[in-house]
Amino acid sequence: MIKLNKVWLIMVLLGGVTYAQEHFQLDRMQNMREMEIAMSTIQKGFLYNNINVVKNGVNDLKKTASHTESFIKEGVSKKGINTLVYAKKETENITKLADEILLSFEKGDRYEAANGYLKILSKCLSCHQTIRSW
Ligand code: HEC
Repeated sequence: MIKLNKVWLIMVLLGGVTYAQEHFQLDRMQNMREMEIAMSTIQKGFLYNNINVVKNGVNDLKKTASHTESFIKEGVSKKGINTLVYAKKETENITKLADEILLSFEKGDRYEAANGYLKILSKCLSCHQTIRSW
């Protein structure tokens, strides 16, 4: 009976570890998808010329981009490059550009706002390209 309890305990513990690993993976992809939705919201705000929608998208993007840990893919690293430092830098850049988008839009400078949007999109793409080629 005692033996059986131990087996159970081990099984439960192992299950917890597996769950935690899967959960972490899921969270990262979830966060990435939320960033993608935030980007779409910003674009929608541009097209419908609605500052509140732009503002929502910018706020959502800043919130999701602040989860720096989701920018790092486990087991992927390049010699001489600190992935955490790289991810933090990208978080800062995206946050700064997101603020600039809102400022430009508020000033009525839509082209400048669209420019900032493109700059963010290039950050997304360049990290994906970099990470996937490591
Ligand atoms: C510093 C790195 C980094 C930056 C910057 C980054 N991502 Fe990602 N992104 C990742 C990693 C890592 C993955 C997982 C890639 C893989 O598994 O091949 C990913 C995957 C994704 C995916 C695919 C999710 C899925 O379910 O397949 C989307 C969508 C995405 N990112 C959106 C974005 C958007 C939008 C931005 C910019 C606002 C962005 N990412 C910026 C690292 C980054």
